[in-house]
Amino acid sequence: MSADAPRYWVAIPAAGIGSRMRGAVPKQYLRLLGRPVIEHTLAIFLDHPRIHGIVLALHPQDSEWPRCEYADESRVTTLPGGDARADSVLAMLDWLLPRAAPGDWVLVHDAARPCLLREDLDRLLTRAAAHSVGGLLGAPVVDTVKRADAAGEVAETVSRERLWHALTPQMFRVGMLHAALSDALARGLAVTDDASAMELAGHRPLLVEGSRSNLKITRPDDLPLATFFLTSQANGES
Ligand code: C5P
Repeated sequence: MSADAPRYWVAIPAAGIGSRMRGAVPKQYLRLLGRPVIEHTLAIFLDHPRIHGIVLALHPQDSEWPRCEYADESRVTTLPGGDARADSVLAMLDWLLPRAAPGDWVLVHDAARPCLLREDLDRLLTRAAAHSVGGLLGAPVVDTVKRADAAGEVAETVSRERLWHALTPQMFRVGMLHAALSDALARGLAVTDDASAMELAGHRPLLVEGSRSNLKITRPDDLPLATFFLTSQANGES
């Protein structure tokens, strides 16, 4: 690799408290096949030869991380996250900006998505790097989509044509994403993922199709599903 080839960084927001899960343990620390969810997620990137370094945003009161297998891993830098996911991502980009070269990329990936497939990561790395802005993994919507009214009755059926679920990782140039996200937050705009900050700045990120198994652990019934996907991966079935 030449000295000025772009590097690939990973930023993992892990500062959420998982209010949609029952119980006191944040979802990134729930046990999945004998290890915390976050260890599965980190292993995907630590095992990848093209990843230069990982930044991890933790809740200021996090007491679980020091017990994790990668707590002393030199390629992982931890720092405090913020009130919302976007604040946690911006805190990581603030750290990265002075350390990254102008052409470096950052892949933002939710800690609570431990089933990312290596082949999906590789496809994103290749396709987003060839795009002027970058891109994100996504999955086309296959169900019929309804919009509800305030009473919980169907107000309309929304066409699913060209509708996608936004997944992570989402991969952009460090400087461009930093500018887009800080501007969106300063303007008080709603930013639920990193691509939306780029969109608000006028960019058109590339959608790269990924597997539906890349689920975000959000509700209790997601854990058995994640167990199934990881077991299938380990058995070479996906
Ligand atoms: O809550 P949600 O499912 O949107 O969280 C997605 C990811 O963002 C999780 O990995 C969570 O830990 C992280 N997050 C964060 N800082 C927050 C809220 C969520 O890093 N304040």
